[in-house]
Amino acid sequence: MSRFKSEVVILAAGKGTRMRSTLPKVLHPILGWPMLRYVLEAAKQVAVDVPVVVVGHGGTAVEAAFAGQARFVRQEPQLGTADAVAKGLQALPADGTALILYGDMPLLRGEALEALVSRFHAESLDALVLAATFEDPTGYGRVLQGADGRLERIVEERDATPEERRVRLVNTGVSLTRIALLRDVLGRVPDENAQRERYLPDAFTLLAREGYRVAVVQAEDATDYWGVNDRLQLATATTILRHRILRHWMAVGVTVEDPDTTYIGPEVRLGQDVVLRPGTYLLGRTEVGDRSVVGPMTRLLDSRVGEESEVVASFVEQSTIGDRVRVGPFAHIRPGCTIEEGAEVGNYAELKNVRFGAYAKAHHHSYLGDADIGARVNIGAGAITVNYDGRAKHRTVVQPGGFIGCNANLIAPVTIGEGAYVAAGSTVDEDVPARSLAIARERQRNILGWVERRRSRRSGEDEPT
Ligand code: UD1
Ligand code: CA
Repeated sequence: MSRFKSEVVILAAGKGTRMRSTLPKVLHPILGWPMLRYVLEAAKQVAVDVPVVVVGHGGTAVEAAFAGQARFVRQEPQLGTADAVAKGLQALPADGTALILYGDMPLLRGEALEALVSRFHAESLDALVLAATFEDPTGYGRVLQGADGRLERIVEERDATPEERRVRLVNTGVSLTRIALLRDVLGRVPDENAQRERYLPDAFTLLAREGYRVAVVQAEDATDYWGVNDRLQLATATTILRHRILRHWMAVGVTVEDPDTTYIGPEVRLGQDVVLRPGTYLLGRTEVGDRSVVGPMTRLLDSRVGEESEVVASFVEQSTIGDRVRVGPFAHIRPGCTIEEGAEVGNYAELKNVRFGAYAKAHHHSYLGDADIGARVNIGAGAITVNYDGRAKHRTVVQPGGFIGCNANLIAPVTIGEGAYVAAGSTVDEDVPARSLAIARERQRNILGWVERRRSRRSGEDEPT
């Protein structure tokens, strides 16, 4: 945590026209988090108070998505970034400093912001504009400096001359200003530009002209400040964030076999010597314990996997998998499942809202829903729980050591007692006492000589012409 703090205003009222979306730009998800969440997380490291978010287009949706995490101010209509900041300042105290961020910069890092805030205070600046040198500056405002390095002007691309457009030093959009000074100068920002909007960068041009101490600071890592304006930039930002997260996990002892096809969300936690095979998606609040292997082609969402387990080619949602468990290939573990130590689930198993006991097995083609499966139970191929009667869901209980034969239907609510057997093909709708055998199927009849008789019957008939 840094010693110096600042008020934070995040601009997110713009339409995001270039996204061509009905979803507000800052709500577009990256690895499971809406873009704005990354900006808020970075801001947290320097914010004296809950950040102020200026909303407009899709404001209601943005407010709902971030309720309790920000103070919201409305900007309607959207008259430009200077106007948006002026609105945001209404929620701030009279004095102090304001760090301005844009909501479409998901690659921001808290540590970099800390360094800026410290510098602002250490050098007693009036304003600080963070600039970066971009290989391709297209779309950004260009920062023009005098011979002494002082800020001369920031010009938007639309308003720049061809010569100015060749400048590769761009305005990142990140700035710090004394609040009182910012309030004063924003009122004087003109709207004489291609978009007839009031541009925040013009405030810094004015301050520099008026002789205030406005520092232009060069960003160490320019990619931290890439903005997302369209879907291509959304994909690029996703790739950068993804690789940042992957690098972190590899550095602390996780094997990632194919970084290009592995997606790890920002809240995921992984143990040591975890192995992630190609095509793996770990999202939400997922945790994987030491030495477990996930993938190939697996998606875990908001789920926990214990130690030394293996989840192969399966989807798992909001469930808990214990130690030394084997899941898959081709299992779908739906919400509410707990799979206990040493259990084995799949090929082709679907589980929903099931406690699956230690060392129990469901190896082939089963559906278990709303069930309590005891320790060491064996679920035969094709056995299913009939948990839904068209109106309500009912529970199936198989007590420890039970043995469910192939293609059995367990019609819930029903309890199979401890160590009891259900014969293959049975449809069971009454409880089975412990250590008994339930057979509930048509008895087999063998009709002797039937084939011969049919043949002789046929030969008496007229042959079809
Ligand atoms: C802006 C900067 C540009 C900088 C670039 C960095 C201005 C005029 N230009 O350009 O110098 O290089 O960011 O990414 O500031 N917004 C509002 N209200 C408004 C207009 C915009 O809240 O009235 C918000 C948007 O939602 C967005 C942010 O401000 O989050 C920036 O707006 P955007 O239109 O993306 O500006 P750029 O053209 O990218
Ligand atoms: Ca932008």
